[in-house]
Amino acid sequence: MPSYENKIILAPMVRIGTLPMRLLALRYGADLVYTEELIDWKFLRSKRRYNDILNTVDYVDQTDGTIVFRTCNEEKDKVILQLGTCSAERALKVAKLVEKDVAAIDINMGCPKEFSIKGGMGVALLAQPEKAYNILKTLVDNLSISVTCKIRILQTPEETLEVVEKLVSSGIKAIGIHGRTRDERPQHAVHTDVIKYVAERISVPVIANGGSKEIEKHSDIYKFKEMTGCSSVMIARAAEWNCSIFRKEGLLPMDTVIEEYLKLAVEYDNSPSNTKYCIQNILRDLQDTPRGRQFLDCQTLEQICSIWGLGEFCRETQVSYQKRGIQGRWQVTP
Ligand code: FNR
Repeated sequence: MPSYENKIILAPMVRIGTLPMRLLALRYGADLVYTEELIDWKFLRSKRRYNDILNTVDYVDQTDGTIVFRTCNEEKDKVILQLGTCSAERALKVAKLVEKDVAAIDINMGCPKEFSIKGGMGVALLAQPEKAYNILKTLVDNLSISVTCKIRILQTPEETLEVVEKLVSSGIKAIGIHGRTRDERPQHAVHTDVIKYVAERISVPVIANGGSKEIEKHSDIYKFKEMTGCSSVMIARAAEWNCSIFRKEGLLPMDTVIEEYLKLAVEYDNSPSNTKYCIQNILRDLQDTPRGRQFLDCQTLEQICSIWGLGEFCRETQVSYQKRGIQGRWQVTP
């Protein structure tokens, strides 16, 4: 079971937090890594398969062959699977499926997107603390691994504390708090004071989140930790833009990060579309340059790799995988 004291953590991010980015974050120094949010009913359509070519465990969607979740031994004790759910029963079914493959389960109680709220998931759960508590309690009572949740703050520190205390009473091991309300957007200032108010009053570690705008270098992480009075910090956007933010030795140049990310994407047979999305979010404004436009035209991993001098590496790796008859590949889907 992971300890949540004094940890620097890769936050959950849809499409960004897939295996190559999680491994890169760990190699740069992150202590724990969250998966992207995975929706319970989608996960339940998948079957677990051991992939003996990649040495990964793959959860493969039985309806379309896509890989819902891929993980490997390197991250086994450090990966936290985040679930989107509104049902204790479904959440437990998924958790039981993956119990031996991940270090912990986290429930998303902070997502403000329409898709989540309409489905009674994400931040909608904070308006139904009893239901949220039941989901957590069911997991805590029936799993051998840690359970946590990630929330947003409510309108006042007192209201936030009241809900947090209820959730903590389920037996969760830690709670991630994004210091913005459900209606606030990433450009709004993060309420470090509210995170601090809660962290000082509860018995489990609080993982502070929402500081990326002010986190430009590794030492800024500790400033955020101090401002929030928290045991641990969870980083999303600063890691999405440059994953080497986790390095104690300092940031690496963007191109080095892309190269190291691409090697992992090739090695773990990540889909071209997901790989492209992650690199787009590293390049940001630089997509609008000659090299950026060339990149945007790429459709295969090999084409993307060629831009960073890794075309040959990609080709050789893919040929060797094909010779060994790789299965459960992303090619199954369009
Ligand atoms: C997110 N966030 C998010 N949160 C969550 O609980 N589950 C998720 O799947 C996602 N997905 C996601 C995707 C992307 C691209 C971004 C930028 C953000 C929210 C994220 O974890 C975090 O709470 C906020 O981004 C605030 O933290 P930072 O960015 O200031 O470190």
